[in-house]
Amino acid sequence: MVQTHKYDVVIVGAGGAGMRAALESGQRTRTAVLTKLYPTRSHTGAAQGGMCAALANVEEDNWEWHTFDTVKGGDYLVDQDAAEVMAKEAIDAVLDLEKMGLPFNRTEEGRIDQRRFGGHTRNHGEAAVRRSCFAADRTGHMILQTLYQQCIKHGVEFYNEFYVLDLLTKETVGGVKVTGVVAYELATGEIHVFNAKSVIFATGGFGKVFRTTSNAHTLTGDGMGIVWRKGLPLEDMEFFQFHPTGLAGLGVLLSEAARGEGGILRNSENERFMERYAPTIKDLAPRDMVARAMANEVREGRGAGPDKAYVYLDLTHLPKEQIDAKLPDITEFARTYLGVEPYTEMIPVFPTAHYAMGGVPTNIKGEALADNHTVIPGLYAAGEVACVSVHGANRLGTNSLLDINVFGRRAGLYAAEYAMGIEYDELPEDPEAQVVAMIEQMRDAGGSERVAAIRQELQATMDINAQVYRDEGSLKQALSDIEGLKARYVNVSVQDKGKRFNTDLLEAIELGFLLDLAEVLVVSALARNESRGGHYREDYPHRDDVNFMRHTMAYRQEDGSIRLDYKPVVETRYKPMERKY
Ligand code: FUM
Repeated sequence: MVQTHKYDVVIVGAGGAGMRAALESGQRTRTAVLTKLYPTRSHTGAAQGGMCAALANVEEDNWEWHTFDTVKGGDYLVDQDAAEVMAKEAIDAVLDLEKMGLPFNRTEEGRIDQRRFGGHTRNHGEAAVRRSCFAADRTGHMILQTLYQQCIKHGVEFYNEFYVLDLLTKETVGGVKVTGVVAYELATGEIHVFNAKSVIFATGGFGKVFRTTSNAHTLTGDGMGIVWRKGLPLEDMEFFQFHPTGLAGLGVLLSEAARGEGGILRNSENERFMERYAPTIKDLAPRDMVARAMANEVREGRGAGPDKAYVYLDLTHLPKEQIDAKLPDITEFARTYLGVEPYTEMIPVFPTAHYAMGGVPTNIKGEALADNHTVIPGLYAAGEVACVSVHGANRLGTNSLLDINVFGRRAGLYAAEYAMGIEYDELPEDPEAQVVAMIEQMRDAGGSERVAAIRQELQATMDINAQVYRDEGSLKQALSDIEGLKARYVNVSVQDKGKRFNTDLLEAIELGFLLDLAEVLVVSALARNESRGGHYREDYPHRDDVNFMRHTMAYRQEDGSIRLDYKPVVETRYKPMERKY
């Protein structure tokens, strides 16, 4: 039995971006949020170190310096108009959360406390500045709880454990417009069709294409994958961020806040090696530079541990009281997962896949784009699934919690305004047909391939071949492996044939999205013959502004192959310069 629902605005994903959007839209028009999890289990809850805004509560600061840092941090691939919007609106975004009751850490005077974070500087790079507003090392968790409470207060309706599998569109004279989504209810196996005037994707990233990642098991790129299969573009997918301080061998995130509070990276010789790579801001250089420096230390034989495979994060010089007040969770992770006592011992760390800079192209209203500039009526995206592009080739830490609040709010606002000005569109006949066919085919298939085996091989090749360092040979190897895995995926079968809570089926579908997105990442990376931000090509070690100061736009063609096109970067006030710290 298919159930049908009608909402002005449907939001897919209940992380920070989705709920911030819902809060805005829910106060104006009938809004539903669909999530494959429970809202408070969304991955925003794993974000630790803070949300930046030039509040200047503890040191001189202003939004223009923040804009500049964001542009420079993103290796000048940032659209500067978008970065300016984000840095300006950051201040109200933090104050809004404060008014909603978010328990920020406070200074002795009672103001929101702020700490240093990588790449955030005073006066265009003079020294690190205290710009990150935080709630210990649980800032994302607090944002999620706060926004959820507010959404409930404002009557937003939640459909939990509803897995959206298709976007409904209608052909119009100017292209396509959106009419709703189709979702699979995990508890019952039933299909639900949602007729909507606006749809906002806020589904997060796709870090599970890598083995070593800070991302939760659920970060499988579903929103990007759905858009991709509709023939709509994905932007700058080659840019994936590796967070420097994952727990070695596990990838579990240890917040950059640890270095913001004074933590130091050391190699096996006890050397503070970042002094060689970024003499001015050292351990607080942007993540792409720190991650490469760490990988380089290991490659050159200065790694620590039995296999010389990691470096150390040293907090032993920090007062216990500071660690307990500002870094309680991550120090507990070190104790629990590695058996290391951070008061007295250095913590083994190595880069972990953390964040997709690319995604569904949008403008600064959160409207999704069908090409370099055409808006898709009724479709919006915000947060990690989107590419607006405020992060360019490398995101600065704490700009992500900011992004979800600023552009989540904007997407919610504009989606609601659009919805209030139009009538519902007719749904296509049998809107659920494609999803039903996909599920039945997958549930009934008797092939010999197993989801876990293919996922493991995908993650292995991505970790080896598309990581911090890449070159043509490694990327071609990754591509050939992915193509082989895609061929095997056709013969995948699920063991659970039932309807209720069939997570086996869910994982099989998620794997399909991961394979698609890994391929887009690698094809886009192969074509970018330069090094910029998080994309470092050993065979092209320099940035090439003449040929590559442009966004990659990837399109899926009818036959499944990938076509690449490009889009100019929006430059307003900052001329590209060499990036030194
Ligand atoms: O290190 C961290 O706390 C992560 C923050 C971020 O990715 O913005």
